[in-house]
Amino acid sequence: MIRVEGGRPLRGTVRAAGSKNAVLPAVMASLLTTEPVILENVPHLLDVESAVALARALGKEATWQDSVIVLTGGGELAQEAPPALVQRMRASFLALGPLLARTKEAWMPLPGGCAIGPRPVDLHLMGLRRLGASLDLRGGTVHAQAARLKGTTVYLDYPSVGATEQLLLAAALAHGTTSIVNPSREPEVVDLADLLAAMGAEVTWWGDRITICGQASLGGAVHRVIPDRVEAGTYVLAGAITRGEVTVEGARPDHLDALLAKLSEAGATVETDGDRITVGVDGRPEAVNVQTLPYPGFPTDLQPPMIAFLSTARGRSTVRETVFASRFNYVGALARMGAQIRVSGDTVLTDGVETLRGAEVEATDIRAGAALVLAALAAADRTEIRGEEHIARGYADLPGGLRRLGAEVWAAD
Ligand code: UD1
Repeated sequence: MIRVEGGRPLRGTVRAAGSKNAVLPAVMASLLTTEPVILENVPHLLDVESAVALARALGKEATWQDSVIVLTGGGELAQEAPPALVQRMRASFLALGPLLARTKEAWMPLPGGCAIGPRPVDLHLMGLRRLGASLDLRGGTVHAQAARLKGTTVYLDYPSVGATEQLLLAAALAHGTTSIVNPSREPEVVDLADLLAAMGAEVTWWGDRITICGQASLGGAVHRVIPDRVEAGTYVLAGAITRGEVTVEGARPDHLDALLAKLSEAGATVETDGDRITVGVDGRPEAVNVQTLPYPGFPTDLQPPMIAFLSTARGRSTVRETVFASRFNYVGALARMGAQIRVSGDTVLTDGVETLRGAEVEATDIRAGAALVLAALAAADRTEIRGEEHIARGYADLPGGLRRLGAEVWAAD
């Protein structure tokens, strides 16, 4: 359980960790080669442990010291991914592409992950079929076969992050060039493309597509993972919701343009300088309207913390969620903390209140958990949040980071 004594403005500086969502596909990319892949700036997170456990289970050797993971070996890869590991985390499904490309036949259970609505993998499967894989779904497992994947053009109905990554990974060892039309352009996808390029694939971004020229084999690489924009955004919002001033260093401000624009619109002071972002809020912020969109739009992963922030702004904010079908499962908990908030279809409406109050609430996924912690920081008294294991999947030490900024946040039994 996390216990928070709210009501203290946060002030100070925290350092952004490496991006969870960039490191997970990077670990899967190591399956494409037997040469060493060295990942730097890796955050200490449960999800990264799950990714490394999966890579090991599939035949890689991995050492993880401080923030560096070295992945080697993998001359012989297992063809079957252990269901327990894949169900723990949705990103494990990204092992399918590399595994198929390397072993020509693979069994991959359908994924688990966060409880945020139906998250199908139809685009992943359609794309792999276009690359020449024959896929058979039986008893919750995908059985995939391909003598050699062949480059082709794949159009995505939606710029899915996971599907774009899956196809980049598979196409890197395919014969010929693959064009992904309407790809995701999230910074984490760009980071994966950069890693694949460093490993020897030829990757080019165009206006409407990304092309990747596959190689017969790929080499190793040393790759520094980009900073975690969602973690950085969460800290900035923690400062903002407590009407304090927080600086995040080691960040990529350009990856957070949408959030920073909305915070400025709400009346916050936003300053960026190199790899530093400083956001301060003096007095009550103004309501703003937000809609989540694929990058460079407002990130869905910051929607829950943003709504927590807006629940104390002056006036009515509407926040429309267009990326995931049901990502409002924490709204009831915010209401228990005194927020005037309701869900209408894909939109949350909140009439900002002067102050929130403490309550006993439960985190149901990573970002919902972050939203509740933020609300608790702004609440007038004590909040107890259960389900902290969800938060630990995505934030290395959120209570510790917030304490350094002056918050009273403790892990309790
Ligand atoms: C990734 C991120 C997650 C983030 C999300 C959107 C990782 C590990 N996770 O998730 O934190 O919230 O991007 O920025 O990087 N969809 C389909 N068919 C598919 C694939 C996706 O319909 O085959 C739908 C999903 O149900 C969802 C939407 O597309 O509604 C977005 O999903 P996607 O972009 O694939 O996100 P993930 O890769 O799951």
